[in-house]
Amino acid sequence: MPTPHINAADGAFAPAVLMPGDPRRAERIANLLMPDAEKVSDVRGIGAFTGEYNGKPLSVMASGMGQPSLSIYATELFTHYGVKRIIRVGTCGGMATSAKVGDVVVAMSAHTDSSMFNLVPGVNLAPTASWNLLSAAIAAADDSMNLHVGPVASRDRFYGNDPDGVKTLADLGTLGVEMETAALYMLAAQHNAEALTVLTVSDHLFDTSGDMTAEEREHKFEGALKLAVAAAHC
Ligand code: HPA
Repeated sequence: MPTPHINAADGAFAPAVLMPGDPRRAERIANLLMPDAEKVSDVRGIGAFTGEYNGKPLSVMASGMGQPSLSIYATELFTHYGVKRIIRVGTCGGMATSAKVGDVVVAMSAHTDSSMFNLVPGVNLAPTASWNLLSAAIAAADDSMNLHVGPVASRDRFYGNDPDGVKTLADLGTLGVEMETAALYMLAAQHNAEALTVLTVSDHLFDTSGDMTAEEREHKFEGALKLAVAAAHC
């Protein structure tokens, strides 16, 4: 039976799903890793693909942008399609001085300004990656990538965040800002599943001089993808 936002047959998803934000990137990742992958859902242009990578089943599906969008897809995958692991492969704006454009950030935890997961009155929860996936991703890193492991910030607004708040987050060691990871980690906790986010720094909040060429971007994204696949199949 399909869900409101996924029209795949039961059993159409692998236990592990790679989840970029952008639907076109989902298709590119599926084609790159699994040329024989089958498109199993296409509601609202959010294509989902399932195939085999290195002899193991794998699915790729986009989240769209922001925590509400990701939450719809992740919830339906966890509750209806038997998905056990979601690995977000996305981009972030660098916040730490050390997190340069093109570097890879593995999100150990995710601060958030969202109120979507205020589940326990009076308690600020700590959305946290699954150690199993985090350690597998880090073990797959090689010397060609500059890897950072630590907290990111998942914010609801792309535009118009207050500069003081941004600076304080950076001073607190936040590596980068994006818009989805806190919800993913909370949903994995709620559904007894596993989750990880692997990000490529696509721009820097305090240093806009280092933008990548299109070719560099594709190459750098492949570094993050390698870590994400290692986590998916660990
Ligand atoms: N915020 C700011 N910069 C970014 C983001 C974001 O969510 N994602 C990639 N660069």
